[in-house]
Amino acid sequence: MPAKLTRTFRERVPHPLRFLKSLRLVGPSLPPARFAQRARGVLWFAAQLLRHPRAVGAICPSGQPLARRMAALIPETPGLVVECGAGTGVVTQAILDRGIDRRQLIVIEYSPLFCRILRGKFPDLTIIQGDAAKMTSYLPEGARVAAIVSSLPLMSLPRATRAAIISQADSTIRGTGCVIQFTYALWSTSPFRQAGYRRDARAFILRNLPPARVERFRSAE
Ligand SMILES: C[S@@+](CC[C@H](N)C(=O)[O-])C[C@H]1O[C@@H](n2cnc3c(N)ncnc32)[C@H](O)[C@@H]1O
Repeated sequence: MPAKLTRTFRERVPHPLRFLKSLRLVGPSLPPARFAQRARGVLWFAAQLLRHPRAVGAICPSGQPLARRMAALIPETPGLVVECGAGTGVVTQAILDRGIDRRQLIVIEYSPLFCRILRGKFPDLTIIQGDAAKMTSYLPEGARVAAIVSSLPLMSLPRATRAAIISQADSTIRGTGCVIQFTYALWSTSPFRQAGYRRDARAFILRNLPPARVERFRSAE
């Protein structure tokens, strides 16, 4: 292989060990307490995956690069941030690290087990054990929502649930907010686009297990 091509390949495709380090699953940089917390998260996640494979829709919690990229796409505009499908809270932490005010964040998670974990990790956040297909019913009346940050496995959810979530998202962002969604289906058309939403940002995150695509959508004009 020509040297330039090899270099480009190395830059784009991470070495397996560097890849695991980037997910902070191995490496000396992670303090023991954080490592134990991460390992517990992976185990809880695996247990939920075995019980509810379609609702969990992933083989492990999101990696930090994916979580950070989702959080970075939250616009500066005023309003609530609604996180849907928070799982073990990796994206929740990234949203807080991004500087979003804790009082402005509402987390909706379906699984009672994940809700218990989330309440343990973030005791001062509003964590609702509920269905994203009913998200407007959990929000204060007339609330302005700047962004929905969704880790929901839209592709593996039943068609009717998916349609209800997409329609609820539209009523939630009310023409001014946005929806940030990730998927492992790197090349397929997002259900949000199929429903007429306009995409204004996209990124591929190779340093995730498996690699993911993040997109930001706005309501159709
Ligand atoms: C891909 S996992 C989330 C991964 C998460 N970012 C993490 O790092 O742990 C999808 C999550 O969506 C939740 N979920 C699935 N259907 C839901 C629904 N209708 N409403 C709310 N949460 C839902 C699942 O319980 C699961 O926690």
